[in-house]
Amino acid sequence: MKATAKAHTNIALIKYWGKRNEDIILPTNSSLSLTLDGFYTTTTVAFHDDLSRDVFTLNDQIIEGESYNRVTKFLDLIRNQSEKKHLFAEVHSINTVPTAAGFASSASGFAALAAASTRAIGFNVNDEELSRLTRQGSGSACRSIYGGFVEWEMGSREDGLDSHAIQIASEKHWDVRVAAVVLSSTEKKVSSRAGMKRTVETSPFYTGWLDSIPYDMKEIKAAIREKDFEKTGSIAEANCLKMHATTLGANPPFTYWHDTTMRVMQTVQEMRENGIPAYFTIDAGPNVKVLYLPENEDKVKKVLEDIPGVSDVTLSKPGPGVTYL
Ligand code: ADP
Ligand code: DP6
Repeated sequence: MKATAKAHTNIALIKYWGKRNEDIILPTNSSLSLTLDGFYTTTTVAFHDDLSRDVFTLNDQIIEGESYNRVTKFLDLIRNQSEKKHLFAEVHSINTVPTAAGFASSASGFAALAAASTRAIGFNVNDEELSRLTRQGSGSACRSIYGGFVEWEMGSREDGLDSHAIQIASEKHWDVRVAAVVLSSTEKKVSSRAGMKRTVETSPFYTGWLDSIPYDMKEIKAAIREKDFEKTGSIAEANCLKMHATTLGANPPFTYWHDTTMRVMQTVQEMRENGIPAYFTIDAGPNVKVLYLPENEDKVKKVLEDIPGVSDVTLSKPGPGVTYL
């Protein structure tokens, strides 16, 4: 009744931004990501007869509150599908993600939790079933079941059976690198969950965002297949800008960007003008991720580190899917 799993974070090149069902997490659009090596979560789940509630530790700290509730809610989902509805679990998780690096720890966290808890309770699930379950913990996490380039197909069914991730190309297909640019001040006031909800409900730009997805998705998949860096990067950068534009139209309006976020964006565009191919993408926070090719690694790192207001630059390669330890 015990299992350990390891899952890596992912960065979306075509963003997931909006839910059509908040309860079982069904998205309003398909999305596409790259799983990242080097940033991962290792989680052990052990179900015991003698526990009166779940216990969750993260990086050796006992966790309560909202993060605890998200974990127990996810374990309920697993327990309720088993014959062991009344068993509680001890969950020990370690995030090997640089502190506040702005890599989504929830993606690797929920993918590792889903893999370890299903195995500990004795389910024999394939990757597609695991991705579907993981989706209900955190949407973007369903892509972390697979390595490399991954699409989350939004599906159309109300029960969510057709809403799960699939691998487009493995981590060995193409060595595209990602630099996580961490800003000195990284406070974020609106969570991704709250931000996408407000945008779906109030932003007049939201329909424009949705209309643009099928074309972006088709084009980026072709670009990844052909290993066309310029095309992949420019679609990802434009898709990120469109997502962030929807937040400006929300009521009340908001943005995740800081002044340094804009400075990093401008520096990346200047790098391109100076002949270094690099493209940015930004999730629901102020930190920026920069896509580049391995031969430009030293130059890109140096330019990014020299931007005033940047506190750290962390580099990553494409990474693998879930593994069991
Ligand atoms: P960030 O990308 O800044 O790390 P997110 O908003 O994506 O933050 O997610 C952080 C939340 O994800 C945490 O507050 C917690 O609820 C959940 N989380 C993070 N790591 C884990 C983990 N290892 N196991 C379970 N839940 C986790
Ligand atoms: C901007 O997966 O964190 O990073 O499903 O509510 O847990 P929930 O949201 P979450 O949202 C991620 C939003 C994003 C884009 C992306 O990763 O695709």
